[in-house]
Amino acid sequence: MSYNEASRQDLDNKQFYIETYGCQMNFADSEIVNFILMEEGMKPVGEPDKADVIFVNTCAIRENAETKVWNRLKELRGLKESNRDLTVGVLGCMAERIRDQIIEQEQLVDMVVGPDAYRDIPRLLRQVDDGRKAVNVLLSLEETYADITPVRTSGNGVTAFVSIMRGCDNMCSFCVVPFTRGRERSRPMESILDELKQLSDNGSREETLLGQNVNSYRTDNSDFTTLMDHTSRVDPEMRIRFSSPHPKDFPVDLLHLIAERPNLCNYIHIPAQSGNNEMLERMRRPYTREQYLELIDTMREIIPGLSLSTDIIAGFCGETEEEHRDTMTLMETVRYDLAYMFAYSERERTLAHRKFEDDVPDEVKKRRLSEIIEQQMMIQQEINLTEIGREHLVLVEGPSKRSDEQLCGRTDTNKMVVFDREEYRKGDYVVVEIHDSTSATLKGQAKHKSSIREYYSEAVPV
Ligand code: 5AD
Ligand code: SF4
Repeated sequence: MSYNEASRQDLDNKQFYIETYGCQMNFADSEIVNFILMEEGMKPVGEPDKADVIFVNTCAIRENAETKVWNRLKELRGLKESNRDLTVGVLGCMAERIRDQIIEQEQLVDMVVGPDAYRDIPRLLRQVDDGRKAVNVLLSLEETYADITPVRTSGNGVTAFVSIMRGCDNMCSFCVVPFTRGRERSRPMESILDELKQLSDNGSREETLLGQNVNSYRTDNSDFTTLMDHTSRVDPEMRIRFSSPHPKDFPVDLLHLIAERPNLCNYIHIPAQSGNNEMLERMRRPYTREQYLELIDTMREIIPGLSLSTDIIAGFCGETEEEHRDTMTLMETVRYDLAYMFAYSERERTLAHRKFEDDVPDEVKKRRLSEIIEQQMMIQQEINLTEIGREHLVLVEGPSKRSDEQLCGRTDTNKMVVFDREEYRKGDYVVVEIHDSTSATLKGQAKHKSSIREYYSEAVPV
């Protein structure tokens, strides 16, 4: 076979493997890439050493996320040395920022594809087969992959992520996402509803709507509350969650809707980032501590039993001990059910990188972060102790991590519950009485199978 004939070999039957790092959005993107590749006749495989093409879907949000990916790419170079036909591609948020490094300096990978260019992957793969490196990191103002049905090759079949918008226009000063993922755009409501209908038909029971700032979801015929209204009607036995809203413009009518509809979950992730007004201003978060706390009060008034989580950054530029303590007291006041806590990591191109100095020493960042985490663990333990004796409707996701004899699943409030398997199965809604708890998990005893309609019929007027 001549070189040219070889280069025209089709992608049909090539095996691919995608390894995903970072946020839920990245996992949702990998499912979009699955579809695009499978349309070409390519086959997903479960292990990298069986693949002809390995993709690494990358995250750039903090330095340690990037370091993890770099190390993995170096490992994959080892695989490439033993299999010269192997193609390695980088997808996602690290793509644009380091395309030159990736291709020229490191000679580590064959192709680089940014988050808005996934439709171009088949062409790029053919270019690699032609013996050339391939790059497309163009960002788009329109791409929402609306017509693509994500293919979920991993996961439990009961829960899924559904992307409702892409990009971000918020420009928080610490955050690289607007640069890696581009301008904000919303996916048409009809395409979201179609996907939810398909998920429901396939037995999926709990869907999380994803966007960098879901409050600003907007199309010709919908805003976020309208979208939530419609999604909750697709299947009353299908739970709907969302992530993440922004505290600056959280719609109060959505709170009423959540309170009314049994399948809209009583759980809101509402990133605070800091509890100090000066810090919030530097972070370009347009709300104050007082406004944030007022929002939390309103949420809890309208949705009794609401469970809350947040994101917190320790040691942002110029943070003093007192400002750090304001974050601690905010967390103490709110008493979140869960928190994602990070040490600040400077990212090139962000406003903070251009304007402020990353002047909190690493040890201080680490110490502040451990104080925050330690306090949060205590709060979670206390909150979860109050769960003992209560009942929850748990959606079974599958066997627990520790034992096949036990099942695990989440409450409406997003808490993981472990209980004895008995006759219950994945996808069942089971009423569980809580007997024990840690800061991370509840343990209980299943009482009987139920459904959203049955369980909430008396508790919630619709
Ligand atoms: N350093 C540390 N944490 C960050 N986050 C975003 N950018 C940074 C950064 N540069 C955190 C924020 C955000 C979450 C997804 O990641 O808390 O809400
Ligand atoms: Fe997700 Fe942000 Fe990481 Fe990109 S940089 S993968 S959007 S967390």
